[in-house]
Amino acid sequence: AAKFLKIRDISPAIANTRVHIKGWIHHVRSQRKIAFIELRDGTGFLQCVLQGDLVHPSIVDDLKREATVSLIGTLTLPPADKHCPQGVELQVDYWKLIGASHLDLEGIINIDSNVDQMLDQRHIVLRGSRASSIMKLRSITMKAFRDHYFENGYYEVSPPTLVNTFCEGGSELFTLDYFGQPAYLTQSSQLYLETMIPVAGDVFCMAQSYRAELSKTRRHLAEFTHLEAECPFITFEDLLDRIEYLVCDVAERIFKIDKDLLLSVNPNAKVPKRPFKRMDYADGIKYVREHNIYKDEATKTHFEFGDDIPEAAERKMNDQIGEPIFFCRFPAEMKAFYMARCPEDNTLTESTDLLMPGVGEIVGGSMRISDYTQLMDAYKKEGLDPSQYYWFTDQRKYGTTPHGGYGLGVERFLTWFLGEEHIRNVCLYPRYRERCQP
Ligand code: 4AD
Ligand code: MG
Repeated sequence: AAKFLKIRDISPAIANTRVHIKGWIHHVRSQRKIAFIELRDGTGFLQCVLQGDLVHPSIVDDLKREATVSLIGTLTLPPADKHCPQGVELQVDYWKLIGASHLDLEGIINIDSNVDQMLDQRHIVLRGSRASSIMKLRSITMKAFRDHYFENGYYEVSPPTLVNTFCEGGSELFTLDYFGQPAYLTQSSQLYLETMIPVAGDVFCMAQSYRAELSKTRRHLAEFTHLEAECPFITFEDLLDRIEYLVCDVAERIFKIDKDLLLSVNPNAKVPKRPFKRMDYADGIKYVREHNIYKDEATKTHFEFGDDIPEAAERKMNDQIGEPIFFCRFPAEMKAFYMARCPEDNTLTESTDLLMPGVGEIVGGSMRISDYTQLMDAYKKEGLDPSQYYWFTDQRKYGTTPHGGYGLGVERFLTWFLGEEHIRNVCLYPRYRERCQP
């Protein structure tokens, strides 16, 4: 009997044996007495040849793109001038239809389709070779992140995403009815991670975060996968080192796991050089002023200290400099309530955004306020009701410690590392203001 195999297990080493394969017809070309099928089973692609009665006019119509078939045949070495992804092709002697395909691909998507039409058919687009490669690299990337943390002694945490407190400011909250009480979809799991450091030391989580972003840009989503970590007993310098190590180590791991797949999607993929450039916010303001990057292009208005550098200007600076930048020590008013102040200047925070050329911010992080009184002041300034945050405050009452952490947008990381133009290309089903389907 023929052995049932996945395409990934097929190689010239088993040429001349009979095998049984099941999968989807990725591509088909039929002539009068012969059909060539490129079969896809999720693990790879296999060239298959059907001849004679196997392509009889009464059945050949079943061999349509995206139909599911079961094939049995003998693996043969192809002629020297023929390229086969697995190094062998299957001479089929028996085949059976598992699931017919009614897909009229030209009818639903074609080269004239716009972005929205493509996204409406995302479930079909995903079957294409580029999109499926990106989805596999996404899986590999998540494994690489986890491996990095586990091998460096972190524990993984699974925080709730239905919450009644906010972390990053109130404007981008999705509010929902929670059994008659207001609740939110979380913007960040940071505050819960902070409660886990006295429990498990260095911790991380990979969870969904939500932002009701009104602006539609090529790097903003309403739902994203948020990789966050929190570490006790570190300094701000340690924090920067850890983020740098994470990004470079994970890039290296992805190369190790499947270099060919990675380079097929992004021939320019590289592990960035360490150490990353470190630049204070104050020097960033100086930089944009000296390099004619304006707050308002039309009136040539310069940025001033205290201005938020918006996406477009930030990217211009980042692309001019052309390497990763740790943008550090933002003024307190610009940043979240929980950030620790700089010992040398109380108006600044020990905070950082990691900027990558082509994408901009992929990580945001900081040291956290560890002092009880300072935290109470911070709630007050932000207009937060401390009673809702009692569990967070308690961390400062029962054995506080200097600590810091960060959040990395998995889709931002992938957009950068895979050299994608738009963040939606690295999502399964992207979510943004005008889209909640499929
Ligand atoms: O800079 P953010 O808002 O920081 C936090 O949420 C912190 N509480 C994280 C922490 O310290 N634990 O978000 C962190 C990262 C950003 O750098 C970005 O990569 C990603 O999350 N991100 C988004 N990605 C896609 N779409 C959006 N709308 C995003 N908002 C943030
Ligand atoms: Mg940020």
